[in-house]
Amino acid sequence: EKGGYDHFMIKEIFEQPRSIADSMRGRLRAADMHLQLGGLNNYLEKLACAERIILVGCGTSWHAGLVAEYLFEELARINVEVEYASEFRYRNPVIRENDMVIAISQSGETADTLAAIELAKSKGATIFGVCNVVGSSIARATHAGAYTHAGPEIGVASTKAFTAQVTVLTLIAIAVARRKNTISEETYRQLLGALEAIPGKVEKVFEHASRIKEIAYIFTYARNFIYLGRGFNFPVALEGALKLKEISYIHAEGYPAAEMKHGPIALIDEDMPVVFLATRDSSYEKIVSNIQEVKARRGRVIAIVTEGDTLIPEMVDFVIEVPEVHEILTPLVSVIPLQLLSYYIAVMRGRNVDQPRNLAKSVTVE
Ligand code: M6R
Repeated sequence: EKGGYDHFMIKEIFEQPRSIADSMRGRLRAADMHLQLGGLNNYLEKLACAERIILVGCGTSWHAGLVAEYLFEELARINVEVEYASEFRYRNPVIRENDMVIAISQSGETADTLAAIELAKSKGATIFGVCNVVGSSIARATHAGAYTHAGPEIGVASTKAFTAQVTVLTLIAIAVARRKNTISEETYRQLLGALEAIPGKVEKVFEHASRIKEIAYIFTYARNFIYLGRGFNFPVALEGALKLKEISYIHAEGYPAAEMKHGPIALIDEDMPVVFLATRDSSYEKIVSNIQEVKARRGRVIAIVTEGDTLIPEMVDFVIEVPEVHEILTPLVSVIPLQLLSYYIAVMRGRNVDQPRNLAKSVTVE
């Protein structure tokens, strides 16, 4: 059942080229500029006219929501809020009828997310679900939705469900942007092609698995970790830190890199590993100076860089390369080395990777 792998988690990590392709299957064909999600048909107009999109979820699904915030704002110019379902449901939030709520959940059974949906529904909002488990409670409670089609995810640490969520949310954002005319036909064409190329790019990250394992070996007994990223890589930093905490029980924090000097920089010394998401994108120069700030304080830096980068490897202790992708698709490749790093560290520490202590696959109580 684990297909020859030691754990479900590693099987699911390596499945991602296929699961990402599955979440686009029948929905996207770049050659003839085809992009259509069945569940979206009757709601595309509503999304395009929405005054605001509210994304709700918990844990990793909330991180996928954060990526979607960047996507919807950048591509479709829609005002977005991303909410922890647990806070949203108890906050007496302002919800209007032309707000669109997108609920994100792998299991479709998360109690807080379900309650957030019921609350938004009672205020007249339209709810769109992005779930993995077909026929789940959340899938049934929403007005419409798009399944992620990642296949069953058994490992408690979410991996392929995250990349599938991000893929589907990207498809939705592009479809809405096209409808609103906030992206040109040329950009539309480019993005569809770039998305189709993602499974192959994820495959390429796996070529560095043994290098990532070596880095994991060096840091197996670290007591803390900091993950830093900007823009599309900020949610990835949070996700990388969550993965490490969950399965290795190492204390890890994710931050937007620029927030470092507002506090966390005080933690940096020669015992602090810092993982930088430093791919070549619009915040590259800014990230380079953040790396300098950490190196000046003798932090040990592991940088996720774009293939062929020659500057950052000179500055840091370890690099892991990922292929170049369109900036808005960055999370789909930059999260992969972080999943692997946390997996290898947890295995080296002898942890129960698939069923970490205190955690359940779906959190059906609040
Ligand atoms: O099934 P859901 O996506 O609603 O679950 C939400 C979180 O409980 C979940 O993502 C959790 O944070 C994972 N264990 C993360 O790896």
